[in-house]
Amino acid sequence: MTGVRSRVDLRTDGAAALDWAAQYLERVGEFPVLAQVKPGEIRERLPDSPPEEPEPFSAVLRDLDEVLLPGITHWQHPRAFAYFSVSSSEPGILAELLAATLNSVAFLWRTSPASTELEGVVLDWVAQLLGLPSGWHGHIEDTASTSRLAALIAARTATGRDLVLCSEQAHSSVEKATRMLGMRMRSVPTDGEFRMRPDALGDLSDAAAIVATVGTTASTAVDPVPAIADACEAAGAWLHVDAAYAGAAMVCPEHRWAFEGVERADSLVFNPHKWMLTPMDCSLLWSRRPEVLRRAFGVVPEYLRTPDAEDALSLSEYGPALGRRFRSLKLWAVLRCYGASGLREHIRRGVEFASMFEGWVAEDPDWELCAPRHFSVVCFRLKGDDERNRELLARVNAGGDIFISHAVLDGRYVLRLAVGQMHTSEEDVRLAWEVLRRESVGL
Ligand SMILES: Cc1ncc(COP(=O)(O)O)c(C=O)c1O
Repeated sequence: MTGVRSRVDLRTDGAAALDWAAQYLERVGEFPVLAQVKPGEIRERLPDSPPEEPEPFSAVLRDLDEVLLPGITHWQHPRAFAYFSVSSSEPGILAELLAATLNSVAFLWRTSPASTELEGVVLDWVAQLLGLPSGWHGHIEDTASTSRLAALIAARTATGRDLVLCSEQAHSSVEKATRMLGMRMRSVPTDGEFRMRPDALGDLSDAAAIVATVGTTASTAVDPVPAIADACEAAGAWLHVDAAYAGAAMVCPEHRWAFEGVERADSLVFNPHKWMLTPMDCSLLWSRRPEVLRRAFGVVPEYLRTPDAEDALSLSEYGPALGRRFRSLKLWAVLRCYGASGLREHIRRGVEFASMFEGWVAEDPDWELCAPRHFSVVCFRLKGDDERNRELLARVNAGGDIFISHAVLDGRYVLRLAVGQMHTSEEDVRLAWEVLRRESVGL
């Protein structure tokens, strides 16, 4: 082969990198979950300028261990309980390597027919697994934030209006998207269980879209989608459903109640990179009105023109990005290597562990539960004031045994334990409870 070559040999250095990955996953539970470094500390250890001469890959691996690893917050750790627990599973890891090897740039059907068509297939597969209607058009974006941006642009295109409504518990990416788009946002109050109150939607004559969340970020509340769908229909507004986290739970029939009414959505987002064993990043956006997305995003300059039959399949015409990664490969690998049964088992483990933890909190008179638990997230706090809980959170996270995060619900500071990491065992959840109780002493 000609051309500029690095000194890297894919077989020998690749074997070393895979060995590094395997060893990392074997020992990840030994690290402090939250990186114990100060801002700027990692940067200080890195050279100011790039090397003039080529270095071997072994130097990169060495610095990964010696320089970067102390600055890694370990999301693959069995006791990573903060925000939403995510997992990059072995099939996903290997498929990412292969996707980088192929380096497809799937902006037109012809630039990557396999990537484009596999993307359609895995979106149909996942729709089946979650009980979504057949026939929806789906494609993959990087994150739910981008999927949301796309959905709201479609809503504006369809309605010619600029007002977006969502509950006060909706993810901040709604506000961010409306700000970027110059649209207006109105927060709708929630009920005692943090669900949107459809009776408080108010005047919808300017409404472009209502965003309903199935599994809110703070407490995993489920908005009443059927009533919100009624309101959208009456007002001619777009219904966007955000199931970024809780969508994964729909692989289990016992959780399908939470998807009641979603078949009436104009668009729906779900992130396999949250609770479905798929490496960052992978956000699925379905729509039953793909022609609107295409109207909004289908800018085709001369150099991208191809015969019509191909054009209709170019996924870059359905979202903001032109260049698109081969993200479907990792999702396909996950779906095939776990099967529906493996995915259900993963979800059920997370829910069972969360339910166990919820039981311990409920039984202890020094602690209280702060929201209904629907899936794998428990919102709780030490009885007493916000300051006590803030201090407790700082203590437990500084210790490094566990990593949890917080939210504000009903104006109160609450702690969140989010289960879902594929390495988490019952012992890890027990340890989390032990650490919390130990660190609460003397507060
Ligand atoms: C309900 C919900 N929607 C959207 C998002 C944003 O996800 P992303 O990081 O993929 O943009 C989050 C993030 O946690 C979320 O909880």
